[in-house]
Amino acid sequence: MAKDPGRVLIFDTTLRDGEQSPGASLNLEEKLAIAQQLARLGVDVIEAGFPFASHGDFTAVQKIAEVVGGEEGPIICGLSRASKADIKSCAEAIGPAPRKRIHTFIATSDIHLEHKLRKSRADILEIVPEMVQYAKNLVDDVEFSCEDAARSDPDFLYQVIQLAIKAGAGTINIPDTVGYTTPSEFGGLIIGINKNVSNIDEAILSVHGHNDLGLAVANFLEAIKNGARQVECTINGIGERAGNAALEELVMGLHVRRRYFNPFFGREPDSPTPLTAIRTEEITKTSRLVSNLTGMIVQPNKAIVGANAFAHESGIHQDGVLKNRLTYEIVDAKTIGLSDNKISLGKLSGRSAVRARLEELGYDLSREDLNDAFARFKDLADRKREITDRDLEAIVSEQVQQPEAFFQLRLVQVSCGTTLKPTATVSLIDQDGTEKTAVSLGTGPVDAVVRALDSLVDIPNELIEFSVKSVTEGIDALGEVTIRLRHENKLFSGHSADTDVVVAAAQAYVNALNRLKSIKGKYGLPLQVDSVNSAQTSKSI
Ligand code: KIV
Ligand code: ZN
Repeated sequence: MAKDPGRVLIFDTTLRDGEQSPGASLNLEEKLAIAQQLARLGVDVIEAGFPFASHGDFTAVQKIAEVVGGEEGPIICGLSRASKADIKSCAEAIGPAPRKRIHTFIATSDIHLEHKLRKSRADILEIVPEMVQYAKNLVDDVEFSCEDAARSDPDFLYQVIQLAIKAGAGTINIPDTVGYTTPSEFGGLIIGINKNVSNIDEAILSVHGHNDLGLAVANFLEAIKNGARQVECTINGIGERAGNAALEELVMGLHVRRRYFNPFFGREPDSPTPLTAIRTEEITKTSRLVSNLTGMIVQPNKAIVGANAFAHESGIHQDGVLKNRLTYEIVDAKTIGLSDNKISLGKLSGRSAVRARLEELGYDLSREDLNDAFARFKDLADRKREITDRDLEAIVSEQVQQPEAFFQLRLVQVSCGTTLKPTATVSLIDQDGTEKTAVSLGTGPVDAVVRALDSLVDIPNELIEFSVKSVTEGIDALGEVTIRLRHENKLFSGHSADTDVVVAAAQAYVNALNRLKSIKGKYGLPLQVDSVNSAQTSKSI
């Protein structure tokens, strides 16, 4: 049986696999803000990126290793293919962290071997021990993944795992790379590994999986019942294609049903010891931060963190909940940090009240950032009577999200209505300080604004998503706008909040353009590909 740390280790890959979601690219400050929040959430491991993929990834992993990885903090992990150049770059990037891990991988399924890597099984049996050993010489903690394990021949998989452990891998990860398996099959695979790999007791078994059939979380729970003790997951389940297993669903599944899961850990059903080290009250905040910064909107009916997850619409349900919440609620909203606290910050609140509330919400801002947040707060308080926690979060996450300001929005003015053709006037200041103004007609006010901005920036793109949602209830609520645009086949998102949704749309669009410019300029360096598994590129794992 594989090693059992006595609970489930949470390996968060929001910043690596999650960032592989189309359009979710994050800048350095955003990655850092998410990593800091993941540390507050209490994850065991942060997979901070894929250092060899680009200079941007390398720098972000290194910065996270420097700032977030403490002696008591999460392990900072970097991904690398099973090649020396990848592994070396990964070791350098995670270097500053006191607790660090190299996660190296190679595919083991015949489909991947034949069509992607063009390698034989014998090649893999040679590469794996050599590369794991190479990584082990650079850091103590090495994880090895058999990519596409769920579609690999189990007997071959057992051989590969055996060699990886012998070469020093302390964690063996079993990915369902294409989201193909089912719960009983995946549980069976974990049983098979435990039974047929003779040195499996020297490693922790981990699982990783995608949600192509909507089964990732169910597959993981079955794997846990059969001895998996690390789960690789992302906040809000974001990730490649249909995403990864959602951290909040796994954690809350284990928490709410601990009586059911406890015996699989050799505990009494009633044992109160948590099955993960996650501070569940941080879940809502983390979910919102990731959604705001990546521009990946959480569907309203999403389990645990969707806007409707705690809403009761039918009269029968409302009646039941009023009599006793247990009739229709299995999770207490407070457990995930969803408070119905109405705080009374308003126009007259001072800087220290705002700072205190932000600190209670977990935002520890520098003096400069606090000044900026306070100025935004004052501006909002002039337009909105009561400022809620959600408003404050919207203010701060927009602030964190500011990419380098290549363009600054200076003015937005729109005329529209039943008898008017929507017309927008916008002014932008570009990087050298020149102010430019344009006027445009459009099918609606937002279309007019976007057309006017486009005529000023001359960056060919296609607007592919525009969504508005209200931050809180009430006619004076902040409107949060998320925009995604496509440029040279890549998606870029922008986010903004304002009581005027047209202004929020204009700012979100400018933010998306700034992000496009900063990511292209700073992070868009070509991927260096080496000889070992060169058919693979960084963002198409
Ligand atoms: O899905 C996958 O197989 C991966 C591996 C690199 C772990 O992301
Ligand atoms: Zn993956």
